[in-house]
Amino acid sequence: MDVRVLDTPGDVARAAADAFEAVVRCTPEALLGLATGSTPLALYDELARRHASEGLYFARAQGVLLDEYVGLPAGHPERYRNVILREFADRVGMPAANVHSPEVDAVDLAAACEAYEDEIDRLGPVALQVLGLGSDGHIAFNMPGSLAGSRTRRTALTEQTVQDNARFFDGDADRVPREAVTQGLATILRSEGIVLLVTGHRKAEALDALLSGPATEAMPATVLRTHAGTTVLVDRAAAGLSA
Ligand code: GLP
Repeated sequence: MDVRVLDTPGDVARAAADAFEAVVRCTPEALLGLATGSTPLALYDELARRHASEGLYFARAQGVLLDEYVGLPAGHPERYRNVILREFADRVGMPAANVHSPEVDAVDLAAACEAYEDEIDRLGPVALQVLGLGSDGHIAFNMPGSLAGSRTRRTALTEQTVQDNARFFDGDADRVPREAVTQGLATILRSEGIVLLVTGHRKAEALDALLSGPATEAMPATVLRTHAGTTVLVDRAAAGLSA
C-alpha cells in the first residue's frame, strides 16, 4: 500500500480524480469501481467539473457499484444505484445502462449475488476502484469478521453502521435498511488499482488501525495491505495531524 497524506479533503479528491482521469484518458471504455458514502462525493464533484470544463469523458466507460441496500424501493433516493446516477454518472455523461449494480429485488438473492460476481468478471477487471473507510474499518459492506476470500453476498449491517448511515435518512436510524448486498473482499481485491479515501477526524482511529494495527478480520480494510496496487489518500485530520 502506498500511503499519501495530503492537506485537505479537496486535495484528496483532486489526487483521486487525477487517478481516474489517467485511467479514462488512456482507456475510455475502462470499468470503474464506484463507491457511495460521503467521502467520495468530493471526488465525483471534481470529476464532474473536469467533465464540464476540461473535456473529460465517461460516455464509453462502465461502472460497477460496490454494494446496495436490500429493502429500499427502486425509486428511493438513498438506493445506492440512484445515488451513483445522481452524484456521478448523470453529471459526467456516463449512460445509466453502463452503471451496473446487484439485483437486490431478486427473489433468489443468492443467485443474484453469484450473477453479479459473474457480471463483474465478464466486464472486468475493474481498472480502478474507489473505496471509503467505515468507522469500524469496513469497506463496502464487508463488516468486521468478513473473510479475505469473501465474494458478493447478502450481509447484515452492524448497529454502528446503521447509526453512521442514519444521517442519510434524516437522522432516523429506524429507516436505515438492516441488510445489503456487498462485493466481497476477494471481489474488491481483483481490481487492478484501488484508491482508498480517508478524510476527517472521525476516521482517525480506523485509519490508525489500518496502518499500524494487526492484519485481522476484525478490521476488514487490512486486506488492502495485500494488494500492491492500493493507494491510500488521507487528509491531515484523518492522519491525526492538526488541520
Ligand atoms: C457505507 C458504505 C461504504 C462507505 C462507508 C463510509 O457503509 N457502504 O462503502 O465507505 O459507508 O461512509 P462515509 O464515507 O460516509 O464515511
